[in-house]
Amino acid sequence: MKQLLFTTTFLIVFGFTQASVAKNRMKMYMKQLAQQQQQLGCETSMNRFKSGPPDYENIIKNSNTFWNDTSFPADATSIQWTDTPYTRNGLYYHSSAKWSRLNDLCPNCTMFGTGDYLNDISQGAIGDCYFMAGATAVAEIDNRFKKIFVNPEINWAGLYAFNVYVRGIPHVMVVDDAVPAGSQGLSPSFAEIGSDGSIWGPLLEKAWAKFANNYEFIVGGSPNEVVQFLTNSPTTSFKTNQLSLDAIWKLLSQSDIQNNIMNVVTNTSGDAVCPFNLACQHVYTLLGVATVYNADKTQVTNLYRIRNPWKVDAGFNGTFSDNASVWNTVGFDGKTYAQQAGHVIADDGIFWTTPEEFVQSFINVFTGEYRDEFVTSWYDKVDDQVANSTNPSKYAFTITESTPMTIRVVTYPVRMYPVSCKKTTSIHKVVLKNSRGNWIDYIQYLEVSTSFMNLIDRPLAPGTYTIEFYPSWTEGDIKDYEFETISK
Ligand SMILES: *[C@@H]1O[C@H](CO)[C@@H](O)[C@H](O)[C@H]1NC(C)=O
Ligand SMILES: *[C@@H]1O[C@H](CO)[C@@H](O)[C@H](O)[C@H]1NC(C)=O
Ligand SMILES: *[C@@H]1O[C@H](CO)[C@@H](O)[C@H](O)[C@H]1NC(C)=O
Ligand SMILES: *[C@@H]1O[C@H](CO)[C@@H](O)[C@H](O)[C@H]1NC(C)=O
Ligand SMILES: *[C@@H]1O[C@H](CO)[C@@H](O)[C@H](O)[C@H]1NC(C)=O
Ligand SMILES: *[C@@H]1O[C@H](CO)[C@@H](O)[C@H](O)[C@H]1NC(C)=O
Repeated sequence: MKQLLFTTTFLIVFGFTQASVAKNRMKMYMKQLAQQQQQLGCETSMNRFKSGPPDYENIIKNSNTFWNDTSFPADATSIQWTDTPYTRNGLYYHSSAKWSRLNDLCPNCTMFGTGDYLNDISQGAIGDCYFMAGATAVAEIDNRFKKIFVNPEINWAGLYAFNVYVRGIPHVMVVDDAVPAGSQGLSPSFAEIGSDGSIWGPLLEKAWAKFANNYEFIVGGSPNEVVQFLTNSPTTSFKTNQLSLDAIWKLLSQSDIQNNIMNVVTNTSGDAVCPFNLACQHVYTLLGVATVYNADKTQVTNLYRIRNPWKVDAGFNGTFSDNASVWNTVGFDGKTYAQQAGHVIADDGIFWTTPEEFVQSFINVFTGEYRDEFVTSWYDKVDDQVANSTNPSKYAFTITESTPMTIRVVTYPVRMYPVSCKKTTSIHKVVLKNSRGNWIDYIQYLEVSTSFMNLIDRPLAPGTYTIEFYPSWTEGDIKDYEFETISK
């Protein structure tokens, strides 16, 4: 593994692997914070991030009663900020929900339940399919998924801590286990408890809501935001009508082998029902691919394996729908297509499409590239009052061997700004120069895109480089950002 060496005087050096990050940060932030009533305003979620988590290890160890997270209280303000300029009233009908502790709703539940993680997620009465699908995609690989959970054991305090990334920076975020639970407080209003007795779905959704100010601000989004929040992986997306069926198959089967985190979205045009009875404007997890062969291998059928975060098949009627007789075809090696692909008939939200059906069904594919061996280096710049669209902030780094890497600058996600706090989307520019001042690469991007400079396939030669960041701030922007490199 290679480390980057940063050289300028105004640059602090951080170099560590993703795996060790969380623990280091955790120790640095270990302090008891006064429990105080939260202030609702444009910087509420940024301030939650800046103040860090409470002394959760002690709270968990020493509590003989439930711990209340007063920075995200079990009341209407954590659902939407009714009667303030900061709300669209999007969850008005849920704002009077009674809150219940998951431990009261399900005394025997555990974080992960007794079954497979993939089967745990069931979206509730909130439009966060992108979050549910994104979290499921991360959960496909145990190792990367388990890293999120600081204390997966059920504890009396009802306090759960998660390793997440805010603005690309590793951060421990805590929640208590109270969730909105309908007018009677009988079952979770939003993400449901897993049928195997798992509670990570509602807890992780609650952390996402706390990060985004309240539950209202998690309605609608991109699965890549979730992948970045949970893993900080570089993410990309493409439109399925921009590539041939073969090119998509090659890309995604390769991506599956690399265990990339993959999600797909149906047409967002506003129709209710999309081809094959799929829900429109809905995000599904792309679990993987399989190929089935007929007896003499003259017929090869490629299939994509998909999961609906609703955890039900919802009438999917493609050629390879659950009960379709084609699954019984006896193919190569005397195995049926179902046996070859590992198909299970169950109303579990999992279904298969052919490549033709795939492009008819899904307009966008989202992928996150996660590798245990990635080395992330970052610098946290707070309140940059100097840089602007013509006058950049400059950062230099030196590498001693040829290094494939990605480079990006991350500002606060737009999701962290309440309604009315930020009206326009900012456009930023990043320029990479070598020691002679020659341009190597540049990106210019809308802040909501997750753009990064991709130097994976054209590794940077040893030497000293300069990064210039030209922010085009707009009204309401908080001028904090993270400059980050991820190298292999
Ligand atoms: C948390 O709130 C509940 C319900 O309001 C209360 O019963 C409990 O005593 C509180 N716990 C703490 C530690 O304040
Ligand atoms: C919880 O588990 C215990 C021991 O296995 C069992 O006796 C009890 O009935 C369970 N309670 C519920 C509510 O499932
Ligand atoms: C999405 O749906 C609209 C309305 O049915 C249709 O006109 C459009 O072609 C669809 N887009 C794609 C990419 O399939
Ligand atoms: C699937 O269902 C939709 C909506 O009910 C219907 O229009 C379509 O013809 C069905 N397709 C097949 C292959 O049965
Ligand atoms: C598929 O078969 C299962 C089990 O035989 C049955 O419960 C289910 O209703 C069937 N689904 C459809 C869509 O026909
Ligand atoms: C950027 O900052 C420089 C130096 O302070 C100033 O001269 C210039 O006018 C600023 N440009 C913009 C677009 O604000």
